[in-house]
Amino acid sequence: MSDPNAPMYYKGIYHIFYQYNPKGAVWGNIVWAHAVSKDLISWKILKKPAIFPSKSFDKYGTWSGSGTIGPDNKPIIFYTGVIDTKQTQVQAYAVPKDLSDPYLSTWVRPERGNPIAMVSDDLGVNKTAYRDPSTAWLGRDGQWRMLVGSRWNKKGFAVLYRSKDFKKWVQAKRFFHFNSKLGMFECPDFYPVSISHKNGLDNSVTNQPVKYVFKVSLDLERYDYYTLGSYNLRKDIYVPDKSSIEGFKALRYDYGNFYASKSFFDPSKNRRIVWGWANESDSSADDVSKGWSGIYAIPRKVWLDMPSGKQLMQWPVEELETLRGRKVEMSYQHVNKGEHIEIKGVTAAQADVEVKFSFSSLEKADKFDPKWDKWDAEGLCKHLGINNHGGIGPFGLLTLASSKLEEFTPVFFRIFKTHGNKHKVLMCSDARSSSLRQGDELYKPAFGGFVNVDMINNEISLRSLIDNSMIESFGAGGRTCIVSRVYPTLAVKRNAHLYVFNYGSEPLIIKSLNAWSMKAAKPMM
Ligand code: FRU
Repeated sequence: MSDPNAPMYYKGIYHIFYQYNPKGAVWGNIVWAHAVSKDLISWKILKKPAIFPSKSFDKYGTWSGSGTIGPDNKPIIFYTGVIDTKQTQVQAYAVPKDLSDPYLSTWVRPERGNPIAMVSDDLGVNKTAYRDPSTAWLGRDGQWRMLVGSRWNKKGFAVLYRSKDFKKWVQAKRFFHFNSKLGMFECPDFYPVSISHKNGLDNSVTNQPVKYVFKVSLDLERYDYYTLGSYNLRKDIYVPDKSSIEGFKALRYDYGNFYASKSFFDPSKNRRIVWGWANESDSSADDVSKGWSGIYAIPRKVWLDMPSGKQLMQWPVEELETLRGRKVEMSYQHVNKGEHIEIKGVTAAQADVEVKFSFSSLEKADKFDPKWDKWDAEGLCKHLGINNHGGIGPFGLLTLASSKLEEFTPVFFRIFKTHGNKHKVLMCSDARSSSLRQGDELYKPAFGGFVNVDMINNEISLRSLIDNSMIESFGAGGRTCIVSRVYPTLAVKRNAHLYVFNYGSEPLIIKSLNAWSMKAAKPMM
């Protein structure tokens, strides 16, 4: 499986569709597989794909797209159809055959009105790079709008379409947004976030103060980047805030293995949820031998950080907590330099760990070397790793560790002093020692992101969700998130261990630690 498509909530059921190869473990023969759930935890995979190549407008591919709860509160899907062997792309729509079927298990793609959009000659984009329609939103003028991602040479575009009746879609003259250097805008997502509360908002809200999120999956780097900005209603364009950097240095939902994400508004709990794809880091040959590839990160609630308004925050949906089993707790435990404290009593290969770390003082924090300014967080994580010991850190968790530490994946922080009395916080999830397997068949990156946090009370929190080959970490309450995919050979199942470690000279205080063994989710019957 690859991209999550058209997540939606309709009459008590969550739907997730996904790019899926029914004939093999690696990308190809893509259909829209479909799964349903009542709680985002227990899923039922429907037997029949919702959309599969068969129509004149999608014979050669049914690629990514989005869901909208459209006019009369009816769900509708927009997706990309590939119409020839040259991979010419068009946009098409599908609707449920029977709205009284609770799972909406059959989708129809009427000949009438399909495709809804094709590259016009004046558009100036590549016909084979024109895809991934977004969720539609309703403007104040009563017209619906949606975006299609595109490219021309190195330029990336979000093409805007408008419709009065949700049937006929007209291409706007102006691009909704573009950037001359970023390449293809895959899977664009555009939505409002409240500037006064953490609840999510419907894509069409107009009656309250909001900021807008514009997310693109940049094919050139394979990460999901977003900016925060405003929506110029007069010109019908998106304008990133001056303070919101765009491009390959932009903010990311996740600084690890997380791509082609898609969000939706969940009206049952007034939240916005993001789904992201964590592909394998092993080789295609491994995928073929294990028979599958690609998983989704745990769905995350997303909201705007307040009062800064400068970034998003993300947190695993609360439903995940229903899988928590046996719990282990610690509090006010000191970890001196070089010490590892094992978290015993939980299944370390499948666990949820929440820790609050603190220090009596941050005096010993090393100066942030101005030389490092040219590196991004990932480069710095790689450069410093856990073997370069500082004043404050590295400290954090050693996840999926074998008993003699032949294998482990550290998820950790390092805290530096910058000018004034400020601190710079680096968060890393370093897969380089995750597996004894050598060679280039495994990609073992040291992922990293900076955490824009004030070290109030000298504290910082970390939550990691560990699940065999997946480590999903949330720094400082969801300010910085990192997914790593790892393939240990020794640290598997019962032989996996979990530790807190500190390699910095200032003793670390585990102010509180709660760790749970996690049960496997049961399929929905
Ligand atoms: C992103 C993507 C989309 C495309 C889909 C095809 O991973 O390349 O742009 O629609 O995958 O599976």
